[in-house]
Amino acid sequence: MESIKLDITKAAQFLTPGAIEAYVPQVAASQEALEKATCQGNDFLGWLHLPSSITPEFISEIQDVANILRSKCEVIVVAGIGGSYLGARAVIEALGNSFAWLKSDSKNPTIVFAGNNIGEDYLAELTEYLKDKRFGIINISKSGTTTETALAFRLLKKQCEQQFGKAEARNMIVAITDAHKGAARAAANKEGYKTFVIPDNVGGRFSVLTPVGLLPIAVAGFNIEALVKGACAMEKETDINIPFAENIAARYAAVRQALYTQTGKKIEIMANFHPKLHFMAEWWKQLYGESEGKEYKGIFPAACDFTTDLHSMGQWIQEGERSIFETVLSVETPNRELLFPHDDENLDGLNFLEGKRVDQVNKMAELGTRLAHVDGGVPNIRIIIPKLDEYYLGQLIYFFEKACGISGLVQNVNPFNQPGVEAYKKNMFALLDKPGYESESQAIKQRLSEGK
Ligand code: PA5
Repeated sequence: MESIKLDITKAAQFLTPGAIEAYVPQVAASQEALEKATCQGNDFLGWLHLPSSITPEFISEIQDVANILRSKCEVIVVAGIGGSYLGARAVIEALGNSFAWLKSDSKNPTIVFAGNNIGEDYLAELTEYLKDKRFGIINISKSGTTTETALAFRLLKKQCEQQFGKAEARNMIVAITDAHKGAARAAANKEGYKTFVIPDNVGGRFSVLTPVGLLPIAVAGFNIEALVKGACAMEKETDINIPFAENIAARYAAVRQALYTQTGKKIEIMANFHPKLHFMAEWWKQLYGESEGKEYKGIFPAACDFTTDLHSMGQWIQEGERSIFETVLSVETPNRELLFPHDDENLDGLNFLEGKRVDQVNKMAELGTRLAHVDGGVPNIRIIIPKLDEYYLGQLIYFFEKACGISGLVQNVNPFNQPGVEAYKKNMFALLDKPGYESESQAIKQRLSEGK
């Protein structure tokens, strides 16, 4: 089997010689701190050797539950937010047919996502869409108390019970949550739903290889055994004993930090030339944003879909403020083949492409873009993925997780907490007069009345 590869040559040319290697001691210290669990956030290191700890029996248990949902439901709603949905969505969209949503496919249920926003129209439209569908729910929340997810689940549970009766709804709802605490656990225990546990020592954004990601991915019809196998391979390839020069997670962590500190590049744009990878970049944004953006530092993770966004963001990237570097997700071989047809009239002047694969044009767009952006002062990192399948996506996921852990520790923050996300929740609960928030409610209303 091949492996994903990392090409940093077009980033290194922006750095002084030896700038990346200068990070070797810090990277090594971070790797050691992860392995010995002596780092900040060391109670959240369950992801580190997760792939190699997943047993065939556990995969079978997940697959069995997935098969039940697949046999019962034409639509599955995955309710979750942040780390409780982005990983599953990233894999499902990367592997699925781009038009799965529009096709009726008797083999695979349609997967839809909810609980990741508070859009009234979104939820009302979802309710309407589901009203004549046999649908099930995978309710995912580690804390079990997240407002967006709890709100969607309340609506969906009620609708499921109304459409299929309480007893049958019980067979169509699965909860993935904490072993003991939270409202999602309490509801699952009371109603007798099938449940899976999110391990205490795995944070949301590192949880895609737990049932949080594995169950929805299996329900969608994808091979979770191969996904885990790919992650296992990457766990080995990025092991602490692999020398820096060959360790792609260590090198990615080092080059990003070198660009950040030495060239002042504060924004990393994750760019893909494959629309199916849009949500992979969304997952990556959360992983790096929540892990590194603290203590008023951290590279800002942004994402673009190319060539689409070259017609919107391309100008800024080429000639805007030089505070960015770019990381390209480059897929070597597409899964399908499509050739440019001949046209007698050639009104569009494209006959010179006749007989060529569409991907050949895409590849030249990719290379041309990388060269243009480098010429415009944008360092470029390239992650080469042999093809979009479960095995390589498993590799990619673990690669990003490992590099993130190392990079956050090199930056000297705790990569495994997210204290900053509480601020908006506190204000929202105070504004909604949630019981227990009386003094905050009073203070925020006073502040608003003063126009501050
Ligand atoms: O990475 C994280 O911890 C967060 O993004 C959570 O996944 C997200 O806030 C959802 O939390 P929960 O699973 O508790 O509903």
